[in-house]
Amino acid sequence: MSNSMKEHWDEIYAALDVDELTWYEEVPEPSIRLLSECRINKDESVLDVGAGASTFVDHLINQGFSNIIATDISEIALNKLKERLGKEKASSVRWIVDDITQPIHIQNLRDTAVWHDRAVLHFLLEEKQQQMYLSTLKKVVKKGGYVIIAAFSLKGAKKCSGLTVKNYDQNMLAKFLGEDFSLLDYFDYTHHMPSGQPMPYIYALFQRDQ
Ligand SMILES: C[S@@+](CC[C@H](N)C(=O)[O-])C[C@H]1O[C@@H](n2cnc3c(N)ncnc32)[C@H](O)[C@@H]1O
Repeated sequence: MSNSMKEHWDEIYAALDVDELTWYEEVPEPSIRLLSECRINKDESVLDVGAGASTFVDHLINQGFSNIIATDISEIALNKLKERLGKEKASSVRWIVDDITQPIHIQNLRDTAVWHDRAVLHFLLEEKQQQMYLSTLKKVVKKGGYVIIAAFSLKGAKKCSGLTVKNYDQNMLAKFLGEDFSLLDYFDYTHHMPSGQPMPYIYALFQRDQ
């Protein structure tokens, strides 16, 4: 695991309340919208990569999904999410602390029906990191499974949390995933940070070929 990255994210999550984070969403509406297009069964697995303290996990539990995996490089982030959920709900989630660029545990997962990543891929600037992300995704997502990726769009910020990001559009995401993945839907979405400042994202939904 990259210690400097882990420390970076742990420090941010330790310093701020969850609803002070620039990426905080009370209701993860665009993710919910794309998830509903997947039409998966409630017992199929949904993996939130770089979940942080995201309310997407709350949504999954509240909707009755029973096979949820939340993973992040920051244990502090996942602990904050666990605390918010409370013991009973938290115990229904599988928690994995792992670095998606040097995965130890995630790469052993199989048959994932939905891979959800909001604002993680765009932090991976090195080719080697991106390729590790992709090879892990290909091990983990089942054939016919879905991939939801949200990243800062080409109109979006060039930095987040002090880190440089790579901006994407739907074509760049499609090229990154490769021809085994079909683009089913995409849209631009403007997230408003707690300060009210707009933050343009691209959201894209892909399906892996059978
Ligand atoms: C901008 S936040 C988004 C969090 C969450 N997806 C959301 O929408 O609220 C980026 C998240 O990615 C996590 N992260 C960054 N680099 C990572 C890596 N290499 N492996 C796993 N998680 C990572 C951070 O700890 C952080 O929680």
